[in-house]
Amino acid sequence: MKELKKRIREEGRVIGSEILKVDHFLNHQIDPVLMLKIGKKFANIFQKKEITKVITIESSGIAPALMTGLELEVPVIFARKKKPVTLDEGSLVTEIFSFTKQVTNSVFIEKGMLIPGDRVLIIDDFLANGEASLGLTRIIEMAGAVVAGIGIVIEKSFQEGRMRLEQAGYPVFSLARVASLNHGQVTFIDEKQVQ
Ligand code: G4P
Repeated sequence: MKELKKRIREEGRVIGSEILKVDHFLNHQIDPVLMLKIGKKFANIFQKKEITKVITIESSGIAPALMTGLELEVPVIFARKKKPVTLDEGSLVTEIFSFTKQVTNSVFIEKGMLIPGDRVLIIDDFLANGEASLGLTRIIEMAGAVVAGIGIVIEKSFQEGRMRLEQAGYPVFSLARVASLNHGQVTFIDEKQVQ
């Protein structure tokens, strides 16, 4: 997605050689106009997949997931990182390890939010090592629902996420694929080189 890559080039800040900071439009301040375009793009890509629900993890996945759900006209679920007091017994829980933060967190969704027969689209802001998306695939399958697709706003292709998801049998579609962040520069994988 050209416009997204332009925004990353112009507004992204590289921290070390692994972290891309995009706080001006995605992770802190959110650009709703760009998010709507992202939602339209995902909706277009996954339109034939008969999606019944979109799922993400709080917090930064919510904006692109909401816009995708708006376009597909389906509900959007965000898995919670803290167990709310209102959560019913028997909610679905999985452990997600963050390589970036070196901590394991439980994520929760209420029982009954996903039902057998649901075809669920996972949307997330970043794909690094794939732990968050793999955790969501576990929750979807625990509910007896089907993972119908995975859409990522920014994929860091030099990390293992895509490979791990594809090996597990889940194809990934990313709007921007970052090949490297070396020397403070963002280099993208040329879309013509991939599929
Ligand atoms: P993984 O799920 O792909 O394995 O990623 P990892 O555990 O390494 O990432 C943990 C958190 O860090 C996630 O957000 C993820 O989106 C974010 N993250 C990973 N790499 C980058 C990066 O280069 N830039 C930015 N801006 N974020 C990155 P989170 O902890 O769930 O935070 P949030 O969704 O509440 O913002």
